[in-house]
Parts: sequence; C-alpha cells; structure tokens
Amino acid sequence: MARDHENHREDVAGRANVEDTPELLAYYDDLGRKGAAALWTVANKIEPWEPVSQSVPMIWRYADLRDDVLRSVDLVTPEKAGRRVIYLDNPGRSDVAAAVGWIYAGLQVMHPGERASAHRHSASAIRFIMEGQGAYTVVDGHKMTLGANDFVLTPNGTWHEHAVASEGTPCIWQDGLDIPLVNALEANFYEVHPDLAQAVTYPVDDMTRTWGNPGLRPGGGDWQKGYSPMFKYEWDRTYEALSGLAAHSDGSPHDGVLMHYMNPVNSGHVMGTLGASMQMLRPGERTKAHRHTGSFLYQVCKGSGHSIINGKRFDWTERDIFCVPAWAWHEHANASDTEDACLFCLNDLPVMEKLGLYREEALAENGGHQPVG
Ligand SMILES: [Fe+2]
Ligand SMILES: [Fe+2]
Repeated sequence: MARDHENHREDVAGRANVEDTPELLAYYDDLGRKGAAALWTVANKIEPWEPVSQSVPMIWRYADLRDDVLRSVDLVTPEKAGRRVIYLDNPGRSDVAAAVGWIYAGLQVMHPGERASAHRHSASAIRFIMEGQGAYTVVDGHKMTLGANDFVLTPNGTWHEHAVASEGTPCIWQDGLDIPLVNALEANFYEVHPDLAQAVTYPVDDMTRTWGNPGLRPGGGDWQKGYSPMFKYEWDRTYEALSGLAAHSDGSPHDGVLMHYMNPVNSGHVMGTLGASMQMLRPGERTKAHRHTGSFLYQVCKGSGHSIINGKRFDWTERDIFCVPAWAWHEHANASDTEDACLFCLNDLPVMEKLGLYREEALAENGGHQPVG
C-alpha cells in the first residue's frame, strides 16, 4: 500500500549520499562555528519524497478524559488559570502543544454563572459544545447562545468571552485553534479586554439569524472581513441539511455525506486558517481509504464506529476525538446498521488550499481498504 520504500531512496541520483569522513566532520564543525551548515547533511530530511507527519494518529476517549476535565473545576478557578482547559497533547507535537499538525485543541469546562474574562488574540478559534446547557459566547458585542454540537467562531482579532448562564448546567466544549501555526509564523499577539468584560451591543444570536438563512443573503448586508459573519453554526440545521443530502446523493466514497461549513458571503471556509465540516456515515456505511495533505481533528457527534488510520483501527463512540495527520491513509465505518453516525471535523484546509498545497490520493489496492496491523 503506502510506498514506504520511497522514503529510503537516498541513494538515487540527485539525492544526498555523502559518507562521513574525519575531514568532512571537521569541515561541518568549522561551518557550525560560523552559523552555517552543508545542505547535503539535511537535504533528504527537509525535502522528503512525500509529507512525513510528526503527528501520531490517536484517539482521546471522552470516557477516559471527562472526569479529569471536571476535576479541574475543583483544582483551579477560571480567574487563576486564565482559561481552565485540558489540552490534547499529541506525543509527536508536544513541542508546539498541538493535537495534530498545526492545530491546537483543548477541553474546557465551565459551571453555571462562571464567566471567563474577555480577550483577543491573533489565533482564531472554533468553540464546539460537547455537553451542557446555557453556554454562550460574546464576539465583538454579538452574544451567541450555544447548545450541544453547535459551534461558534472567535476569529483572529475579535474580542471574545465565554460563559455559562447561571440557570444553565456545567458545560464542556472543545476549543480548536490555530495557535501552533500562528506561533510558527511568529505572529501571535494576546490582549486582555480593559474592562475584563464587553458589552452586548446587538440582539442575541443576530449574526446567525441575519446570515444563516440557506440560499438567502440579507439585503444591504455588507461584510468585508476575512471570516464568516455567521459566527454561530447550529447542529439542528446542520443535521437537517445532511439528512436531506443523504436522501438525494450517493455522497463520497471516502467521506460518506460530507458538508463544509461555509462563509455565506463567498461560500469559502468559515475562517482564513481553520475550516470545519460535518459528515454523516449512513447506517452500515464503510468508506474507502484515501489520504491528503492537511491536518484533521474529528469529534464524534452521533453514533459509534471505527476509523482505520495508517493501518491501525480506532474504535470510537459519541464525544471521542481522534486525529488524522497529514498524508495518513484513513477510512471510516459506522458500527450501526440502523442509525447514522456523524463526525465533526476541524481542519487546516483553508491554509492548504490558499498556499496551493492540497493534494489527495485514493488507495487503489486491496479494494480501497487498508490491511489492519
Ligand atoms: Fe480566546
Ligand atoms: Fe479524508
């Protein structure tokens, strides 16, 4: 299947193949003292035949993590912690605090009546609600109420604060941000709101009501910013759209029935660096394997099943989170013959597409399925 041997073709013409000799080692030392190095010592590593992800394919099971996330409430206050978050630490990406590739993700818990201070940063975020009632977020004066499987955007540079209404229940959500990417680009700023809280200056949920009407654009609606004006995306509408598409389309052999969340102004991704999609695996559906560039973090919103990632099987159920690193073979299967399964996916496709780096390949061998090791 995978052409692993290609990564070991260093002896072919045009590839570096220089033996170390005492003379060369001394030469490398000389260069090192002058802040320089010979390209042929690193060329094969920095220019691989194909992407070599440092991220480890893995799953974070909610049943394992939920109690630990809830314990953080007793251990630290949101005020002291700044943000009370347990983040997903991919062992291959610990150095940049990423869950996969250049995507950071964490689980945050908040009790009724708690409110995090308003702030803004260069990193963009998608806050995806996992459980609880009464969560809301304020983005640049727009208050959005949030239920399970809804998500809200807090795009780069927007003032935002998260809270749970006092009549609500404890809420847990997944934060997904481009922090590792923005840090890699050395462009990250962070600022706390001077008043620690911002005023709500628009009707509640106004942006979703204004911009979130399928096939309709508001008259006089003008939006020039580089992210979607529809700050909140709701589960009910998403599920209804997916169900409708599932009834009228065969879907994709690799993704089942998949829909991308979009910016209603230009039909593009919701933000400049992070994209999101929801996909439905119909009862009994098993997709074929493919691989592509870009990093993908899935959260199971509904149902149970498994994914095979680079030949390893990961069984999942509702609220589990798993990652598909760049250029990793992957295929998904719904465990149920009667119920659909839905996967939310956070990704860096906007970056891949804008930079012209997106590439995709279907697995041709073995009927399109990976052998499981
Ligand atoms: Fe934030
Ligand atoms: Fe895929």
